[in-house]
Amino acid sequence: MTSPLRRPLIAGNWKMHLTLAQSVDLARAVKDGCAGAPGEVAVCVPFTAVSVVAQVLKGSPVKLGAQDLFWEAQGAFTGEVSAGMLVDAGAQAVVIGHSERRRLFGDTDEAVNRKLRAALAAELMPIVCVGETLQEREEQRTFKVLQTQLEGGLKGFAPADLSRVVIAYEPVWAIGTGKTATPDQAQEAHLFIRKTCARLYGEGFAAGLRILYGGSVKAENVDALMAQPDLDGALVGGDSLKAQSFLRIMHFNAPAGAK
Ligand code: PGA
Repeated sequence: MTSPLRRPLIAGNWKMHLTLAQSVDLARAVKDGCAGAPGEVAVCVPFTAVSVVAQVLKGSPVKLGAQDLFWEAQGAFTGEVSAGMLVDAGAQAVVIGHSERRRLFGDTDEAVNRKLRAALAAELMPIVCVGETLQEREEQRTFKVLQTQLEGGLKGFAPADLSRVVIAYEPVWAIGTGKTATPDQAQEAHLFIRKTCARLYGEGFAAGLRILYGGSVKAENVDALMAQPDLDGALVGGDSLKAQSFLRIMHFNAPAGAK
């Protein structure tokens, strides 16, 4: 039986999109549309939108996240934002180690690890992203890459410290490309992640760990993905920016015609 700790989570990742006015509109649509969703819902918004979206989501079950943070609490770190600042602005969650951060901004597994520590200390819910590139997959290195990212990113914690952590499996070749991993490919990777976490932190921890899939999740493919036993939710980029699509995704498995 699936652990009750693995409540499904559908999280939107707005990336670097939307004006404040558009953010307010979209957050309002998500808030108004979340009733009856089978799991938890979150939106991860640009830093500049955190406090305004927090006002919109006040009193609603929709969780608010940011997309990155810096590990120091404060100081001369021009351009950076700390975990405490995110909490102060109203965030409850944060994405860490997204492949765009890793690829474009040089985030290493060590940086992910430090950011994770800071997020946990601030009682944020970290969504730690892992995933292989197309080349790594073609060279049969997917499992090796996932293992390295998990071992490096989650290093040095006790299982109890990590109870709030969510992992997102995001194959880089599926992000923003319209190319989704097949449900079987996703399941295979999720099972590997769960087994690796069992080895690192024990069966009990792994059994309660939420593992999201990300990479071109859409209204049309979410149900088949969510039917896989080790998928506990989705991290949605492009289709989280369209209220209608995101609402259908957060209501995965809804009968046709329903929201
Ligand atoms: P996508 O992005 O849904 O646009 O592929 C997913 C992500 O990067 O989190």
